[in-house]
Amino acid sequence: MELPGTKGYAEMLDQRIIRYEQLAFREVHSVVLDLIPAVPGHVLEIGAGTGRDAAALADMGHRVTAVEPTDEPRAAAERLHPSPQIDWIDDGLPDLARVVELGAQFDLVMMTAVWMHLDEKERARAMPRIASLIRPQGLLLLLLRHGPLPGDRRMFDVSAEETTGLAMAERLFPIRNIQRESVQEGNRREGITWTSLAFRKVG
Ligand SMILES: C[S@@+](CC[C@H](N)C(=O)[O-])C[C@H]1O[C@@H](n2cnc3c(N)ncnc32)[C@H](O)[C@@H]1O
Repeated sequence: MELPGTKGYAEMLDQRIIRYEQLAFREVHSVVLDLIPAVPGHVLEIGAGTGRDAAALADMGHRVTAVEPTDEPRAAAERLHPSPQIDWIDDGLPDLARVVELGAQFDLVMMTAVWMHLDEKERARAMPRIASLIRPQGLLLLLLRHGPLPGDRRMFDVSAEETTGLAMAERLFPIRNIQRESVQEGNRREGITWTSLAFRKVG
């Protein structure tokens, strides 16, 4: 599925696989690990890339619906992380039309390094859709990138404040907001930082 935010993700796939897959789920999400449900549930991962996080969540016992609009990383993910616990879907933000068709409600929705690929209009359109897919008391986890914007992909500087405002308008209550430096040395040198945001859906 071609979406404006996917620009650049079909290229240099081998390098992306190495870069994304050498990161550890527990390191990337260290500051929100305690919030991830211990009881197996249904997780929606949006912009799942090469499948690192989907695989880790499946290993924790969750059923994972993994959405990735770019064919190349999605095919690599299915090859790298074959699991009966993961369903791969060619879909994307802001509408998530195929996910909506499933009629499911999710215990956890995750978006890691994805939200900054949407422009302001797309973000405003996407948040209500995402919120509608989370069950009462369910959780939304986002990892937001800050810093110099790359020329080879479509990216925007998105603030935690704007994201929190959009979430709160959809009854997603902020429970964590932690900014820290990148776990990747190259990114640290470039001055890239990340904010982990967590929201709980008020019933
Ligand atoms: C930086 S990668 C992150 C991949 C993965 N979440 C990770 O942490 O390794 C961003 C991903 O978002 C996907 N993406 C871009 N625009 C999107 C959209 N509108 N909806 C869903 N995913 C999108 C890209 O195809 C790409 O795989």
